[in-house]
Amino acid sequence: MRVAMIGTGYVGLVSGACFADFGHVVTCIDKDASKIERLKKGEIPIFEPGLEGLVERNVREGRLFFATEGAEAVKTADAVFIAVGTPSRRGDGHADLTYVYAAAEEIAGQIDGFTVVVTKSTVPVGTGDEIEAILKRVRPDGDFAVVSNPEFLREGAAINDFKRPDRVVIGTDDERAQRVMAELYRPLNLNESPLLFTGRRTSELIKYAANAFLAMKITFINEMADLCETLGADVQQVARGIGLDNRIGSKFLHAGPGYGGSCFPKDTLALVRTASDAGSPIRLVETTVQVNAARKKAMAGKVADAMAGQVKGKRIGILGLTFKPNTDDMRDAPSLDIVPALIEMGAQVQAFDPEGHEARQMLPGVDFKDGPYEVADGADALVIITEWDQFRALDLDRVKRLMRTPLVVDLRNIYRPAEIESRGFQYRGIGRG
Ligand code: UDX
Repeated sequence: MRVAMIGTGYVGLVSGACFADFGHVVTCIDKDASKIERLKKGEIPIFEPGLEGLVERNVREGRLFFATEGAEAVKTADAVFIAVGTPSRRGDGHADLTYVYAAAEEIAGQIDGFTVVVTKSTVPVGTGDEIEAILKRVRPDGDFAVVSNPEFLREGAAINDFKRPDRVVIGTDDERAQRVMAELYRPLNLNESPLLFTGRRTSELIKYAANAFLAMKITFINEMADLCETLGADVQQVARGIGLDNRIGSKFLHAGPGYGGSCFPKDTLALVRTASDAGSPIRLVETTVQVNAARKKAMAGKVADAMAGQVKGKRIGILGLTFKPNTDDMRDAPSLDIVPALIEMGAQVQAFDPEGHEARQMLPGVDFKDGPYEVADGADALVIITEWDQFRALDLDRVKRLMRTPLVVDLRNIYRPAEIESRGFQYRGIGRG
């Protein structure tokens, strides 16, 4: 099959490369000429494990192409995917659909023969109807079907998530479009990933509902962690104890400093707005949004508590700045709340993140170091904000020798309290009362 992918951001690039790897012929289109130039040279603008090799192989084998202009690829495509950004609109939290609608206008002028137009971007319920209206207006003669096909990729594990999904959701009632979509995803039959065919609005809502539920699940365990601290219980054992119940499931029950990233904060907010505009508010999600924002702000206070309030003039080492490991993404990362608050309290902050290079612009006043031991050097407290693998097995004796005061505040619970304390550290985790 022939695919045109509009937008070479995270979703577009991963999806395009994976479809090519399935054997389809894919052209990824982006207006950003310098990005396309770099991609043609094999330079990948984002950090995603395995993506560079995947792109390189499929370009070499003649299935993956990059272009700044889509007319030719769209004209010959069986399916055109819209995978452009839908940022939170400034001020009201609604998803900004400017790029999606612009892409629809452009595609409309280019399609030729029966074409399936698919939204991969996360879009509010009803956006598919609007795209259909645009296509009909620009091309009353056009033969097309508009489909919703949300992505559920996690950064850092996106290729595996694409190739071994728990499910693929395809929202359309059009039978011809269903056949094209089934053919595109046919390679997944091998690992028996279910294709779930739904109505278009339902599919659009599934994406938001999934993200909101996961954000709520994390927020639930985060609040349990606070309760554990007060009551003298251990949140990790609570998580295991409830997670073994199949109805609950053990995933997404790691207590931490609050969720961040490109999806959960934006999508929960957009769903809250959609629901309240529709006169059917979802209070659980509203509360999740508020609790998570407050949690990220409260984390600096937790560090200060562990330091018995003595922050002013002290040196604090930070390990990890990205919103989670295996990504360079800094969007809505808890570090963006925690670090400035510590500086505000008068701390000198030194930090290291393996990939979060953007932090240098986003966190002024921080002394950036080249590794975890440089960060421990002279520190009065070491704070783990992101659980990169390389922080999980630090040489603790070396860390202790380097630090001025051997205090570790572990906001991801990657160390065992008894073990690290036996090495002479004062240790504070999350929810281990
Ligand atoms: C998420 C969804 O998982 C994915 O399906 C969707 O398409 C996009 O949003 P992503 O943002 O890449 O993916 O990361 P994810 O691994 O889901 O983590 C999101 C945030 O939740 C991170 O800040 C992470 O640290 C936090 N988290 C996750 C927890 O605090 N505890 C957990 O148990 C799991």
